[in-house]
Amino acid sequence: MLIKIFGSAVFGVEATTITIEVNIDKGIGYHLVGLPDNAIKESSYRIAAALKNNGFSMPGKKITINMAPADLRKEGSAYDLPLAIGILAGSGQIKSDLVADYLIMGELSLDGSLQPIKGALPIAIKAKHEGFKGFFLPMQNAKEAAIVAGLDVYGVENLQEVIAFFDGKSSLEPLLIDTRAEFYKTIDCCENDFSDVKGQESIKRCMEIAAAGGHNIILVGPPGAGKTMLAKRLPGILPPMTLREALETTKIHSVAGKLKEVGLMNQRPFRSPHHTISNVALVGGGSYPQPGEISMAHNGVLFLDELPEFKREVLEVMRQPLEDREVTISRAKFTVTYPSSFMLVASMNPSPGGFFNDADAPVTSSPHEMQRYLNKISGPLLDRIDIHIEVTPVPFEKLSDERQSENSAQIRERVTKAREIQSNRFAEMESVNYNAQMGSKLIRDHCKLDTVSMQLVKTAMERLNLSARAYDRILKVSRTIADLEGSENIGPNHIGEAIQYRSLDREGWLG
Ligand SMILES: Nc1ncnc2c1ncn2[C@@H]1O[C@H](COP(=O)(O)OP(=O)(O)OP(=O)(O)O)[C@@H](O)[C@H]1O
Ligand SMILES: [Mg+2]
Repeated sequence: MLIKIFGSAVFGVEATTITIEVNIDKGIGYHLVGLPDNAIKESSYRIAAALKNNGFSMPGKKITINMAPADLRKEGSAYDLPLAIGILAGSGQIKSDLVADYLIMGELSLDGSLQPIKGALPIAIKAKHEGFKGFFLPMQNAKEAAIVAGLDVYGVENLQEVIAFFDGKSSLEPLLIDTRAEFYKTIDCCENDFSDVKGQESIKRCMEIAAAGGHNIILVGPPGAGKTMLAKRLPGILPPMTLREALETTKIHSVAGKLKEVGLMNQRPFRSPHHTISNVALVGGGSYPQPGEISMAHNGVLFLDELPEFKREVLEVMRQPLEDREVTISRAKFTVTYPSSFMLVASMNPSPGGFFNDADAPVTSSPHEMQRYLNKISGPLLDRIDIHIEVTPVPFEKLSDERQSENSAQIRERVTKAREIQSNRFAEMESVNYNAQMGSKLIRDHCKLDTVSMQLVKTAMERLNLSARAYDRILKVSRTIADLEGSENIGPNHIGEAIQYRSLDREGWLG
């Protein structure tokens, strides 16, 4: 008998429906065609064992399976479940009248229990779009799929449950999730709040500006100054995610198989990869392409702690995605694109020994060591960082101060207001939403300076020996400072503050 059953393949963050035809005929053999990879070819062993251990059997006939479209490469072990159901229906061991109405995915263990899959959310979106009645998948992935309204999502733990459903022996209840409620659900965000940071008022101000204009930022300071602590608190002061952003980010985490029982991610992600990370793990790729850290940080923050410790080539591969806000991975037969719009926060010690210009420092570095250390990050990557700030440790009196300082929600309110001004400013532009994204033409249009401000920049550039690249950065940051104040024009006080945030451009640092 010929049976049609449906599965799905994920490319990038989109899914494509795969039609699986199972034909069982006289003869003997097991033939699987339609560009399956090795993991799918091996499925026959898992399926045979799972069927046997659940009281069914692999029919002793000729089994031909075709996976269409035939020119699309199918990968991974998540086709075990649809293949098993197809074989059971094709050999008359279970009823076949309903199987084609559902999309089915899951990896089988030998005892028939199911292992989680990757990409459940994009698959569910596609299944809904193509009019499937429902989607069977492993229980662990049910929540992420169930945020798609209008599709019956059945999270199942083993093969038996699916068989019983199609045989009409049990009625499963679809998992219902109220996506809007999930989105508005407030998660306890007190874990990383700015009110925990004592003192450091000027750094907090700086991070508020960075958040308001979407500016990449680097924190320079000795060990223990609180750089990591501050960086972790940045997502909490960014404007709340929109539903669309939440879906985009959740999709990427779903494709990476990293959602872990979370339905919809309604908080901006914070990713902090270790400096030993490989190119592929950072930007994505591999022979079965997977999103990298820069995509996992989409709509959130990527924190590169101890920036100069990262391999130079790793930082190089990040340059293009930083600019394009997406990363494209090419393989011989296909290319996939993952979004990667994130705020970069980097940190570094001011010298390889950890200290700089500090008479009490336990270690000092030679000028040669210093230069080599700083050279690692100079140039193109640093070019994409608008704000540099030095973080010095707070004195004991401040650390022991019991007074509550401003919390993240209060800062976020101001940031959100400034972002609204920017959204209106760039309303007509598709690819620009906030100040950090301005190119030179937009800078000329929106960052006009009066004569006093112009003179101030000129003097600063000469006195502090600022590079030409610093100029555009200063203008953009001053635009954000003016926006935070609700001021239409950029004045000398805005420019004056923005100039302070270029420490690494000064002579004696990167030369
Ligand atoms: N301003 C502060 N308010 C409260 N606690 C602080 C402050 N600064 C530092 N700390 C405390 O010091 C610890 C160390 O800070 P953190 O790890 O952020 O330093 P760091 O600058 O990242 O150091 P390293 O260069 O070693 O990574 C924090 O976990 C926190 O407990
Ligand atoms: Mg640290």
